[in-house]
Amino acid sequence: MNSLLHSDYKNLPKILSQTRQLAKEYFKNQLELAPGRFVEDIEIPMMHEKGMGVENVLKFFRENYAHLIANSAGPRYFGFVTGGSTPAAVAGDWLVSTYDQNNCGSNDSIAPQLERQTINFLRQIFGLDENHFGSFTTGATISNFVGLSLARQWAGERLGVDISEHGLADISKIKIISGTAHASIFKSLSMLGLGRKSLTKIPALPDREAIDLNALENFLKTHPEHPVILIANGGTVNTVDFDDIQAISRLKSKYNFWLHVDAAFGGFAALSEKFKHPIEGINVADSICIDAHKWLNVPYDAAMQFTRHKNLQLKVFQNSAAYLTDASQSHDFFHYTPENSRRWRSLPAWFTLMAYGKEGHREIVERNCECAASLGEKIKNSSTFKLLAPVRMNIVCFTFDEAISSESIRVFLNAVRDDGRAFFTPTVYQGIPAIRAAFSNWLTEKKDVEIAWTALNEVLAKNEFSFRNKLSTFTKQ
Ligand SMILES: Cc1ncc(COP(=O)(O)O)c(C=O)c1O
Repeated sequence: MNSLLHSDYKNLPKILSQTRQLAKEYFKNQLELAPGRFVEDIEIPMMHEKGMGVENVLKFFRENYAHLIANSAGPRYFGFVTGGSTPAAVAGDWLVSTYDQNNCGSNDSIAPQLERQTINFLRQIFGLDENHFGSFTTGATISNFVGLSLARQWAGERLGVDISEHGLADISKIKIISGTAHASIFKSLSMLGLGRKSLTKIPALPDREAIDLNALENFLKTHPEHPVILIANGGTVNTVDFDDIQAISRLKSKYNFWLHVDAAFGGFAALSEKFKHPIEGINVADSICIDAHKWLNVPYDAAMQFTRHKNLQLKVFQNSAAYLTDASQSHDFFHYTPENSRRWRSLPAWFTLMAYGKEGHREIVERNCECAASLGEKIKNSSTFKLLAPVRMNIVCFTFDEAISSESIRVFLNAVRDDGRAFFTPTVYQGIPAIRAAFSNWLTEKKDVEIAWTALNEVLAKNEFSFRNKLSTFTKQ
């Protein structure tokens, strides 16, 4: 064995305690550290010939890089839809690396059984019956990708083509429709060979991101010969709008179409009596995408994909080799997921669900929504900012009281980031450059909303002159 490797292995307890020390320092300061960091391109050094041993690497990393890491797991990171990691999830995640299971098969470990148990817990949360087969993926994009690959297989079969065997033959008859599809849907369509442009947009209701049901029914009525794949939203990323899943379910008994629901974060609304209504009825969906690394607050990367069509999932993803199990007999994950080898990424979810139960996770969802509502109220009462949509759950979509360019929003948000109290990401909503504040972190409390609100206003006041006079040259002072 290489001598550095040998000595590191002998020193493992010491190394783990040094690593733990670094983690402890982060967790100790997590409530206060700046949520976002701007990092210039860093120097790319030459690869070490001999290596330096892990103690030196830890020291080097701590001195040079640790302070530049975003505190995106902290309470005032409102960008994208970013969850943190509950203490139980962190514990579970550390053990994932420690045990380093290849959670693809089932003949050598309990890991796959615990993954199935985790899926079962999650099915209970989302109100999915036992006909829903579930598996973990790396994120909502891949969960959407898997769900739509099954939809593609189903559509091919309606056209008499087994796409998993014969590839994309004449698929021009497949119709893919959605109201306000997330970017990951277009990416998935590209990866699936269906093409980004294959999606037909069905109009949304006025001032909403939810699909217009009359327009949807009209489409279904006029395309009886086509296999139609409807991608419904269980929470849009700008305004947390939901397609009317119950009404869509009723259409399902009249028309034969595939229903895929992208409930990447909105799925967890199912935990709350107050917020669950729009996600109710999701059980009828043919495929469902829900993220774990967003509102379940487990570390990246983890999401779930559910489907009522396990047989199609097997057709698309089955693996065949002399050394693997027989796909027709086995439930091994490598017959159902894009990966062959796969990380035990369900364990942090298992830990946090076991540790805090439905009640603990419901409290996070409801507290996040209360925080979003409280920011929404402040914006409503402000003469500087204005809300662009009602605050339905955990995301606030807002802009300035006067017209502003996307570039100015970006410059303003960079100044907010550099101020160090809060982090937001820009967006465009119905053509208007805007700001999104997404609340999905277990640590976020009302006081964080106060801090973030003060920061937004103070950063603006500090830069008011350049901002008001020359929006596009708004710069950090
Ligand atoms: C509705 C929706 N779908 C899909 C995604 C993609 O998620 P991921 O980044 O986990 O791939 C997101 C991310 O915000 C989302 O909000």
